[in-house]
Amino acid sequence: MDLRTQPLPAAGLAGVTADALLVVLDVAAAGRKDLDAALAPLLADALAQGDFEFKAARLLYLHRPAGLKVPRLVLVASADGSPRAVATALGAALGALGKSSGVRRLAVAAVLGSAQAGLRAGEAHAEALAGAVAEATYVYRHTKPSAPPAPTLASVTLLGERADTPALQRGLARGQAIAEGVALARECANRPANHCTPSFLAAQARALAKAHGLKVEVLERKDVEKLGMGALLAVAQGSHEPLRFVVLRYQGAGRGEAPLVLVGKGITFDTGGISIKPAADMDEMKFDMSGAASVLGTLRALAQLAPRVNVVGLIPACENMPGGRAIKPGDVVTTMSGQTVEILNTDAEGRLILADALSYAARFKPAAVVDVATLTGACVIALGHRHSGLFSPDDALAAELLAAGEAALDTAWRMPLDAEYDEALKSNFADMANVGGRAGGAITAAKFLQRYARDLPWAHLDIAGTAWRSGPQKGATGRPVGLLTHFVLARAARARDDA
Ligand code: BES
Ligand code: MN
Ligand code: ZN
Repeated sequence: MDLRTQPLPAAGLAGVTADALLVVLDVAAAGRKDLDAALAPLLADALAQGDFEFKAARLLYLHRPAGLKVPRLVLVASADGSPRAVATALGAALGALGKSSGVRRLAVAAVLGSAQAGLRAGEAHAEALAGAVAEATYVYRHTKPSAPPAPTLASVTLLGERADTPALQRGLARGQAIAEGVALARECANRPANHCTPSFLAAQARALAKAHGLKVEVLERKDVEKLGMGALLAVAQGSHEPLRFVVLRYQGAGRGEAPLVLVGKGITFDTGGISIKPAADMDEMKFDMSGAASVLGTLRALAQLAPRVNVVGLIPACENMPGGRAIKPGDVVTTMSGQTVEILNTDAEGRLILADALSYAARFKPAAVVDVATLTGACVIALGHRHSGLFSPDDALAAELLAAGEAALDTAWRMPLDAEYDEALKSNFADMANVGGRAGGAITAAKFLQRYARDLPWAHLDIAGTAWRSGPQKGATGRPVGLLTHFVLARAARARDDA
């Protein structure tokens, strides 16, 4: 789909030709005297008739509006002029338009703020538009041939001031690259576990590498045995599905430059193992590889945007199954780090495979390591579905990740890592237990990981509440591809400024 920006015609909105025109009006624009000459009377009338209000996400659809060339006009109010509010408004409007199959060419304009600024959107709004369009047009169909066809949008044109064109173009390009990464992540995570296996994730990584010039290496059981990854092997041993450990590299800077390492939990199905989960909603554990999917999606976005930075993606992937070979509560395994773990609960498997992946990450002498995992139900209880949980002992790194989340509209919330939480992991039979009880479960999980990242600039994102939606809208969100991409881009920009 073609996403572009164009200066508003000299005649204003009256001069716009498209199948539909979508105008976002921020609440602060109410009562503005300098509105577009064609828009003003339509809006005044709609307000007078009580058909439109300056209230967040309020929508009005007008067919063949007087004074405009476009056959369809959608007005939508946004709570304010922020990219977040505008993105919400766009989502509501595009959702409504999505059912209108006649729309192939869409034009979008924004009236933001009470200032005499005209129709004006910035780089961040443009990025949000690209994301909203992708969100409104994504349809999962891989295992559902009867899914309705995706809306037939062929082009979306963001109208702006001539002077803003370069910034809007940058925003659209970034938004589109992230949207493609998000789409890849959603597509992988939505696939059921009999399709999305560890081998499938490895094949996706190989395909991505081939299409975008990345380097890829896929380790198998024998390789992982040689490395001494006893924790990954332990989780994988209960399944007939062979494990994979993917190493994907994007080289945007000099060979000597320390890379950022992204580690994604790739449990393609989490039954809980012998500590088996209840049946209700267990199907959603096909999403337990969403961290891995977000690493693939982020590398996809980066390959397109080509920042001057090195990034390594690591994906430990296996199934967590019960069975005659499966690990049992009380089993003790030796991790790649040499530390031993008493596996008190086989359902706390994510931290086990991540422990070995974090040890492996050290070999890249990384500038930073960020692991991404659907790690704990406790994180969903703590933060719900709005923010991902962010854990890091490194204040500067945490601040960068929080800022990246804000910029991407893919936010995280920082959680504590005080030493006291470590007590819970004590074991009489190993260096540590893999669980620490119910209290502060997301934090004790992070404390476990921290023991494998001691000498690394490290952060952990618990995406258990943000990686997918449940209920009628069940499906992967593609988060936190936006956050991770912005984090890497900001690092690249910083390196450029320092040079
Ligand atoms: N993949 C789950 C975490 C999860 C559960 C994410 C529900 C989203 C929704 C993880 O492997 C797990 O089972 N964690 C356990 C840890 C517990 C045994 C300490 C949990 O959260 O219950
Ligand atoms: Mn589990
Ligand atoms: Zn899990």
